[in-house]
Amino acid sequence: MEKTSRISGFYRLSPQERLNAVKEFAGLSDEEASIISSTGALKYEQVDRMVENVIGVMPIPLGVAVNFLINGKDYLIPMAIEEPSVIAAASNAARMAREKGGFRTSSTGPFMRGLIQVTGVKDPYSARFVVLAEKEKIMDMANAVDPVLVKFGGGCKDVEAYVKDTPHGPILVVHLIVDCRDAMGANAVNTMAETVAPYIEKATGGRVYLRIISNLADRRLMRARAVFAKEAIGGEEVVDGIIKAYEFALVDPYRAATHNKGIMNGISAVTLATGNDTRAIEAGAHAYAAITGTYRPLTAYEKNADGDLVGTIEIPLAVGLVGGATASHPTARANVKILGVKTATELGEVMAAVGLAQNFAALRALATEGIQRGHMQLHSRNVAIQAGATGELIDKVAEAMVREKKVRADRAKELLEQFKRQSSPGMRTP
Ligand code: MEV
Repeated sequence: MEKTSRISGFYRLSPQERLNAVKEFAGLSDEEASIISSTGALKYEQVDRMVENVIGVMPIPLGVAVNFLINGKDYLIPMAIEEPSVIAAASNAARMAREKGGFRTSSTGPFMRGLIQVTGVKDPYSARFVVLAEKEKIMDMANAVDPVLVKFGGGCKDVEAYVKDTPHGPILVVHLIVDCRDAMGANAVNTMAETVAPYIEKATGGRVYLRIISNLADRRLMRARAVFAKEAIGGEEVVDGIIKAYEFALVDPYRAATHNKGIMNGISAVTLATGNDTRAIEAGAHAYAAITGTYRPLTAYEKNADGDLVGTIEIPLAVGLVGGATASHPTARANVKILGVKTATELGEVMAAVGLAQNFAALRALATEGIQRGHMQLHSRNVAIQAGATGELIDKVAEAMVREKKVRADRAKELLEQFKRQSSPGMRTP
């Protein structure tokens, strides 16, 4: 019989029944199916409630970056990531930053924007004035739907509006500026935007289409700064190399994309570890990087009067501590405890420091010996294990591959055979 992905009522099945259907469709072995369904810290019913059509979980390694001193306080940083070297690099960079006092951070406060798209307005510029004149009323309506947020000092704090030209004529875009306190805020902001939309339609005579949060969280910016003593990072030449690496990203978006990817290695890993929305964070970061119209690096580097390197980062980070997976996922909750952060803003500022550390480490490696040696050293152990090495043969095979600069599965297998033959003399080939 032909295989079909049209499985009616799939969502009504239990996770185990769904897994059986997928197993049959994809020809999974019993072992593969049981790997998917071993849910670790989460119960099968729990994951089933988190998203739709659940069949299991996708575990990602969780590591901890050490050495972070931020605003005079020590932090351990849980990072969920599949890529080797990221956690080691962040820890190394944080160690180098400690000498000059670690990281100092600040932020704008936890404000998000809720967007309301008003179309078909004859006189959009005058409609803009109408909306702005009705600001207090609109804010009151928005706040009435979230008394809890208001009680904690949050809520809709301002209304902005502007006109944009589109292929089908001008639109009026209204922004609700919402202080989200310790929530990421998407639910609160979207509810507020949907609540005030009919009133805005009436006031402007237009027709509202979209009512949705913006992930370009430019009112939720996190900033971190660190001084890296020149002696601690390899001398003046390394300082100059890092500044040149930054300047490359400043003038060339092809480089800036990878520069920022390195920053997000650290930030996305903490985002995931704390059960926050990695897509929201990535979208916000890259949109902010392009806010001037040119895609730019999210960090900057310069030399201070002593010739030390000063690194800074400014990045929107819409993370929360209440609601969502951060509150419901047991591992995320434990990770927040490891971090010891008390507010979403503190979490965001810590993440900015991690992003800066990550970027510094990458630039330092790139501007000196390149990243492949360190990367390959860590990667080589994985390759050796995958080739079947166990015990002390893991390091033996890994080291040989790094020495030869051939970190590949085929070479790992050859070396493994060779070492095995050497260690059992009876089987040595003549
Ligand atoms: C690799 O995941 C990240 C880097 O490419 C970042 C960079 O080039 O700055 C090393």
